Amino acid sequence: MIELVAQSELMREAVRLAGRVAVTDANVLVTGESGAGKDALALYIHWRSPRARRPLVKIDCAALPGELLEAELFGYERGAFTGATQAKPGRLEASHKGTLVLDEIAHLTLDAQAKLLRVIERREFERLGGRLTLRIDARLIALTNVDLDGAVRRRDFRPDLFYRLNVVRIHVPPLRERPQDVPELAARFVETYATKHGRRKLNLSRAALAALEDYDYPGNVRELSHVLERAVIMTDGEFIEAKDLPESVTVAGALRKRREKRPTLSEIESEYIVETLAYTKGNKSEAARLLGISRKNLYERLARCGRDEGRRDEG
Ligand SMILES: Nc1ncnc2c1ncn2[C@@H]1O[C@H](COP(=O)(O)OP(=O)(O)O)[C@@H](O)[C@H]1O
Ligand SMILES: [Mg+2]
Repeated sequence: MIELVAQSELMREAVRLAGRVAVTDANVLVTGESGAGKDALALYIHWRSPRARRPLVKIDCAALPGELLEAELFGYERGAFTGATQAKPGRLEASHKGTLVLDEIAHLTLDAQAKLLRVIERREFERLGGRLTLRIDARLIALTNVDLDGAVRRRDFRPDLFYRLNVVRIHVPPLRERPQDVPELAARFVETYATKHGRRKLNLSRAALAALEDYDYPGNVRELSHVLERAVIMTDGEFIEAKDLPESVTVAGALRKRREKRPTLSEIESEYIVETLAYTKGNKSEAARLLGISRKNLYERLARCGRDEGRRDEG
């Protein structure tokens, strides 16, 4: 069983949809950036489905070149190609009565797409080099981190297969669009990795959590998970501090904050005046000279920014 973190409304909506479609036999297309949680959502659908006790089989369409992928997916008979010294059932057959997860579906060759379409429409296929037509009952969950509509427009993906897969589409939003999920995800990862690495009590400090909440996660949930596994290993005390996080995380948050909060001109002015006074060790005549204004003017400006220290004269 898999429990998905879904504190944000965006993720809650995705999980709600997943729960609804799980109990049906519909094929599902799950979209989202790498690391966002597509696999996790596919697992969730399988475990909530009537097929939960049947096999869950996964194949990564990007991992193998065309021919090998077809062999892996559809299986082959002895002698189907050089090296096929004995028959082997494919992943599709292994998923009979269960669920087949097709990761990175956009990488399927057009040939494999045609065969998969037949699996969906007629529930049948042959092993490579096989003459026997096999019946198959598998629920398909296709995952993609690229825009499949675009692939269809470029004719890299069959529109008829796309429509068959796209009956229910669930989008897993990137983590930066749902920062509300960060605290619970973080707490969960800390607990998991503390256990894994034999650390008994370990918590996130407030500053560390604030930094994590400020970050935008180009690598999504997977990146957060890696950051925290590393932090668990780096930390000595009972708390994971901001310094235990990678600089990429802490610096990015600080930079973003600075960009978001642009100072006003008068803030810059008073900051510069204070700096100059520090440089002249409080000598106002010298500071006024450096700033290119009269001493009177410097007093006026100091008064305006609430730093009127009275007219003490230092000469
Ligand atoms: N909502 C979530 N709740 C808990 N864990 C999650 C969630 N989303 C993703 N994860 C975890 O983050 C990691 C990356 O997710 P994964 O499903 O592999 O991403 P994707 O398939 O989109 O690349 C996995 O370890 C997964 O279990
Ligand atoms: Mg994945």
